[in-house]
Amino acid sequence: MPMFTNANFFAGANDVIKVAVVGCGGRGTGAVVQALSTKQNVQLVAMADAFRDRLDRSYKNVVEALKEKGLDKRVQVKEENKFVGFDAYKQAILLADVVILATPPGFRPLHFEEAIRQNKHVFMEKPVATDPAGIQKVLQVAQDAKRKKLNVVVGLQRRYQNSYIDLMSRIKDGAIGDVVSAQAWWNNDGVWVNPRKPGMTEMEYQMRNWYYFNWLCGDHITEQHIHNIDVINWALEDYPALAQGMGGREVRKGKDYGEIFDHHFVEFQYGNGVILNSQCRHQKGTMAKVDELIMGTKGKVFFNDARITDLKGNLIYQFDKKKENQPYQAEHDVLFEAIAKGEYKFWDAERGAKSTMTSILGRMATYSGQRVAWDKAINSGINLQPAVYAWDAKMPNMPDAEGLYAVAVPGVTKFDVAMK
Ligand SMILES: NC(=O)c1ccc[n+]([C@@H]2O[C@H](COP(=O)([O-])OP(=O)(O)OC[C@H]3O[C@@H](n4cnc5c(N)ncnc54)[C@H](O)[C@@H]3O)[C@@H](O)[C@H]2O)c1
Repeated sequence: MPMFTNANFFAGANDVIKVAVVGCGGRGTGAVVQALSTKQNVQLVAMADAFRDRLDRSYKNVVEALKEKGLDKRVQVKEENKFVGFDAYKQAILLADVVILATPPGFRPLHFEEAIRQNKHVFMEKPVATDPAGIQKVLQVAQDAKRKKLNVVVGLQRRYQNSYIDLMSRIKDGAIGDVVSAQAWWNNDGVWVNPRKPGMTEMEYQMRNWYYFNWLCGDHITEQHIHNIDVINWALEDYPALAQGMGGREVRKGKDYGEIFDHHFVEFQYGNGVILNSQCRHQKGTMAKVDELIMGTKGKVFFNDARITDLKGNLIYQFDKKKENQPYQAEHDVLFEAIAKGEYKFWDAERGAKSTMTSILGRMATYSGQRVAWDKAINSGINLQPAVYAWDAKMPNMPDAEGLYAVAVPGVTKFDVAMK
């Protein structure tokens, strides 16, 4: 007897919930281990990746991690259910009840659309797109997911973290009065580089260095800083109407770093006049800080420290850190429990898309050096994807004779359009 009806929804508690992963990198591997570590009867049945070496490494790591937990029998991926290439996602999705989408975010709209078309529940990593066209697609598919009552969790894990949930409820209950401003930081060193190898096509090079190309990554304001921006959107229950800011490349120079900036500082303005000052930086040797702060008329919330003070800094409330959970695990625990019970409880796609859009709006502001309005940005139709996904495809940004890529120039670049 199949576990799910056509709508892939009515699971019995003892039935196997079959999982497929699309994008078998660091996060896909981690998410699979977390999905298979829940209390439900979950099995991994299919894997898809653009590259065979990434898939093989992930399979090995998943098996090893689950062996340590005595759960390795939950890995049931037959050789023929390991799929490689640009179309691999379609075949893997077909075999599952729940799909984990963890490729670079440029592919997320396409993969999310296919998962919902095939009536699957979804865990998808943030960001959920890299450009406004992708955001529009995710928003549209989010409606289909709702109509079909398919659970969708987005990996903005602070939404599933006890301290954040507790502090948010206190903000709503008036602990700091009315919110007047906010700050958000993701400042640290930056990420890996995979050197170009002889024979690599430009597509392969960019895919293996996806972090540095906007059609795949969206720049680090989108890829990482979305976490902090989303916390502020959550607290304000809103999204900014306007953004203006500045950014550039001070230390991230040369042909290894594609087209992204190494710093962005954005002032986001919400409809009620609240300002979010947001900063993200990838520069070694500078102050590291990943955090959020919200200021109200009566007090401040410090999220990392999980405390609330009055305006003079006197402690009003301290979250008991012993009550903290592991949010990466928690988001899978609640998702798989809901699916096993046949419940429809999670519709994160819309808010995930709008927080992703907030970060894209920030990028449009720093790249152009202009004040950019939400409505104009989200309806701009800007699409950074290549015309086709193929190993010999022409990329939106090709290297010049020196191997360097065009980089946005504030005052010259028009939103993202100049990068096409
Ligand atoms: N929530 C979090 O805290 C968190 C942490 C890390 C990463 N992430 C997110 O997870 C996603 C993946 O990041 P990562 O660090 O695992 O990257 P990664 O490079 O380790 O893994 C990405 C994998 O996707 C594969 N891939 C690329 N294009 C594909 C396609 N079209 N079809 C199938 N596979 C494809 C790559 O080959 C690679 O194996 C990103 O969106 C990232 O922002 C979230």
